[in-house]
Amino acid sequence: MAREPRLLGHSADSPRGTRPVILVVDDDAGLRESFRLILEDEYELLDAADGPRALEIVRHTPVDLVLLDIRLPDMDGIEVLERVKAIDEQIEVILVTAVKTVRTAVGAMKLGAFDYLTKPFEEDELLAVIRRALERRSLEREVVFLRSELERRHDTEAIVGADAEMQRLARLIAQTARTTSSVLVTGESGTGKELIARAIHRQSPRHDKPFVAVNPAAIAETLVESELFGHEKGAFTGAMQRKLGRFELAHGGTLFLDEIAMLKPELQVKLLRVLQEREIERVGGTRTVKIDVRIVVATNADLKQAVAQGTFREDLYYRLAVVPIHVPPLRDRRDDIPLLVEHFVRRYSRQFLKTIDGVAPDALAAMVEYSWPGNVRELQNIIERLVGLVDGAVIGLGDLPLDLLLPDHRAKAVETEALPLKTASDEFERQIVLRVLERVRWNQSEAARILGLHRNSLKIKLERWKIKAPRDVS
Ligand SMILES: Nc1ncnc2c1ncn2[C@@H]1O[C@H](COP(=O)(O)OP(=O)(O)OP(=O)(O)O)[C@@H](O)[C@H]1O
Ligand SMILES: [Mg+2]
Repeated sequence: MAREPRLLGHSADSPRGTRPVILVVDDDAGLRESFRLILEDEYELLDAADGPRALEIVRHTPVDLVLLDIRLPDMDGIEVLERVKAIDEQIEVILVTAVKTVRTAVGAMKLGAFDYLTKPFEEDELLAVIRRALERRSLEREVVFLRSELERRHDTEAIVGADAEMQRLARLIAQTARTTSSVLVTGESGTGKELIARAIHRQSPRHDKPFVAVNPAAIAETLVESELFGHEKGAFTGAMQRKLGRFELAHGGTLFLDEIAMLKPELQVKLLRVLQEREIERVGGTRTVKIDVRIVVATNADLKQAVAQGTFREDLYYRLAVVPIHVPPLRDRRDDIPLLVEHFVRRYSRQFLKTIDGVAPDALAAMVEYSWPGNVRELQNIIERLVGLVDGAVIGLGDLPLDLLLPDHRAKAVETEALPLKTASDEFERQIVLRVLERVRWNQSEAARILGLHRNSLKIKLERWKIKAPRDVS
């Protein structure tokens, strides 16, 4: 899920176009007009003759800056200042004051006014103070934005897990991070192998150097070598200029090689050489380049078996598996499921600006029971979708996708033989009904027809089994 980082400058989100919006508050119509003449070339202008009208505007229209006369007829400027700040603290306020009220203006700085202008003032002076105020505003917003980005990144890098084996892995990751040993991360798809590779890099002394991830299996076969090791100009047709490979790009940092089991034998030899010599040769090049990279590789295949079958070099295997880390599938650490659910509900509620308190106990129970063939990634995707779809404050059983409710996908498959006949046939019936419903995309009339049931009988059965149509049946 890539969210484009966008810096929220003062003008970037102004709905009145790209120009900052200034509200002039002054009871003197002549003065309002002269402000307009000076400012309207550069800014969007709004004006108000009194405090209540000014607050009305601030409440309903995005305003970047308020030019506020300290002496107003029915509500004193200081009060307007306080109320504006209460509505939106980030609106900058510049006070306009006469010499005799300068002391009030100085006092008002404590209430959050950016600065004050004493009448009469020069045009340049006015423009300069406005520019400074808007600059501070955009800086403040940038800081808020960067801070939230930082939090977000922190959040997406966290490894959630209380399971004993996951705790052991966390300690192993911390220890390994201090070394430069090669690491082999194994585990089923979606268990968090890349997350672990990144954690090793982040906790290592190399954290401020690059982390370069490459999946040779995702690159056209003919290009893998030059992608990894780079090439010299003219090395092959199309090599218009020298290109650095991922190894060189990762210099000083960490290189993450994904799906390592798919690496072709010729490249296995080359990789072995890099690990032994700590140097590479660009394709078409004649000299060697020293490189300093920590290597982390991952695979969801059984690499030992690949060695036994002769498709993966044994010597390379031992070079890579200096520190082997095996991530258990999610179904073998069910205690982590509620934690991960909570983690992702929180993340996506924040991201989609939703207020979802959590997951109903029966829905959570179904999730804990489910076998999660796609592991954490599957869980994450489902929660993302649910948070996006659900209207209420709680994710209920009926919101869950069918896979999670279908008994034959459950890890604790019902052992039909062990049940009394009535219960067993009921369970059997339930499974058939569910399967038919799934096939007809929960069109109950259609399902009833196929099953040879009256529509109402089907309804009664579903109620008895507490089965509800999932929200999203596509
Ligand atoms: N323990 C965990 N805590 C929080 N998020 C996790 C955890 N494990 C995995 N994830 C998240 O699940 C998703 C899949 O993880 P990752 O990409 O690391 O899996 P993988 O093992 O590399 O999968 P594949 O073999 O399919 O490439 C990522 O978004 C990752 O952040
Ligand atoms: Mg991966």
